[in-house]
Amino acid sequence: MEETKERFEKTAKEYDDRIIKIIPSYNDMIEALTNSIPFSENKDINILDLGCGTGAITAKIKEKFPNSHVTCLDLAENMIEIAKFKLKKYDNIEFIIGDFSNFDFKDKYDVVVSSLAIHHIETKKGKKELFEKIFSSLKDGGAFYNADVVLGSTDFSTHINNEVWKNNLKKNFNEKEVKELVSNQDKVDIPSKLIDQLKWFEEIGFKDTDVTWKYYGHAVYGGRK
Ligand SMILES: C[S@@+](CC[C@H](N)C(=O)[O-])C[C@H]1O[C@@H](n2cnc3c(N)ncnc32)[C@H](O)[C@@H]1O
Repeated sequence: MEETKERFEKTAKEYDDRIIKIIPSYNDMIEALTNSIPFSENKDINILDLGCGTGAITAKIKEKFPNSHVTCLDLAENMIEIAKFKLKKYDNIEFIIGDFSNFDFKDKYDVVVSSLAIHHIETKKGKKELFEKIFSSLKDGGAFYNADVVLGSTDFSTHINNEVWKNNLKKNFNEKEVKELVSNQDKVDIPSKLIDQLKWFEEIGFKDTDVTWKYYGHAVYGGRK
């Protein structure tokens, strides 16, 4: 976790410019995440954004659900500082610096969202335990949606996902930069198979489990309580 924190503390300033080059489908993905929230737009809903980073998801949520109350949680102080600046025109946003794996989920939420963060948890057990805590923190009828890096069900599909990602990187970075990005990714990016995570959701008790968007190794998936 220290390595993940260090990476995002260091890269916070460039994050917004870089993420759309590293993941060219980023904007489609976060739009799909926001569109997956199964509540009417003017409802007053309580939302938790896990690994909020520089606040892109919360900004989209506040545009679509202006009456929502959002709690933004992130490990990296520098990411939270940028999120605070970018989100200052919205009200009812709370910021917490902390690790979601140790977070005390004492409040109840209508919606929990996360984007590109949960794949940093090293073990399958750690990810499943977080999903269990999220489930417990949801109100009945509440929803959890995650936008994240995922592995394919077979080595072949994972290979294709990686090849497409690397080819897309080549459009925005030179050969040396692509190599660096690929090797850095191996250090703190530990995605799990999408199919396994969907099974965990069902085992935990999520209903209406679904994949609402997918482009090779990135997907938006979740369910309701
Ligand atoms: C790739 S960024 C994604 C940021 C934002 N959600 C987005 O989609 O642009 C991952 C973020 O997750 C945060 N993060 C990673 N592991 C975390 C943890 N265990 N607890 C809280 N935040 C975490 C990092 O600090 C970083 O800001």
